[in-house]
Amino acid sequence: MSNLLALAILLLSTTPAATAGGNQSFCSDATYKRDSTYMSNLRTLAGALIGDAARLHSATGAAGKDPDRVYGAVLCRADSAGADCARRLRDAVAAIDGDGRSPCALHRDVAVYSELYQLRFSDRNFLASFSNAPEWVDVTNPGTVPLVVAAQFDERVTELLAAVADAAAGRPGRWAVGEAPWSSSGDRDRTVYGLAQCTLDMPPDHCRTCLHGIIAERQQKIGNGKMGTAVFGARCTLRYEMDLQFFNVTGNSKMVSLRKFLPKHVPVFSMKI
Ligand SMILES: *[C@@H]1O[C@H](CO)[C@@H](O)[C@H](O)[C@H]1NC(C)=O
Ligand SMILES: *[C@@H]1O[C@H](CO)[C@@H](O)[C@H](O)[C@H]1NC(C)=O
Repeated sequence: MSNLLALAILLLSTTPAATAGGNQSFCSDATYKRDSTYMSNLRTLAGALIGDAARLHSATGAAGKDPDRVYGAVLCRADSAGADCARRLRDAVAAIDGDGRSPCALHRDVAVYSELYQLRFSDRNFLASFSNAPEWVDVTNPGTVPLVVAAQFDERVTELLAAVADAAAGRPGRWAVGEAPWSSSGDRDRTVYGLAQCTLDMPPDHCRTCLHGIIAERQQKIGNGKMGTAVFGARCTLRYEMDLQFFNVTGNSKMVSLRKFLPKHVPVFSMKI
């Protein structure tokens, strides 16, 4: 039983399955003991960070002294309600710090990603390096556009995500949402929606670099023409969806809108014989 469990944990931490709407956990081998100093530092830190994230959408920090010092980052999706997010984060922390529900329970380095909330705690100072690891690529809509326009579509998605990433990096809240019309011949007019967010402590250039890093990785990891994908990381996260405005536009979030897209013309020649 314990061997099977260990195998399950190993598989989980290396080859996450795409489960839209669910959550995904990652953890390293090293563990801590129930009622240890590490556990109490983690609980103290988690409580403080979740309190801040309920107001500010994200928080990062550290607690305790080496070798039991814990570093953490928590994030609520920018359009979610603080109280709801805090409740989900508290539940996720309960699952990892020992109530046995999580495959990552009592692991020193752990990350949990879900649609509306995410966290990472570690005994290593991952904050100083601005590392976005571990990353989770969740293909939320495996449907694809027709093969002949896939490259064009991917280019359009990249263009939207880059614009949304730059807006997120430049805004004090470190998040932005956007939309881009999409049409190709023979297809009705459609819209791609995107959202990008960094933890609030990320300076603009680091936020931008982090987001552009996952935009570049996106395509090689998911293949061509996919209609929806979310990429989660400890410091920055983004998502796009075809025809699904998956976020709420709140008062202070100006939507980035790309101008009407004119598809590249496949020239049609008519010849008089
Ligand atoms: C967006 O608004 C709808 C309707 O008010 C609500 O049901 C949903 O939970 C909101 N989404 C988020 C992420 O808070
Ligand atoms: C993941 O989601 C399941 C239910 O879908 C929940 O029982 C579990 O506690 C969650 N785990 C974490 C770590 O949030």
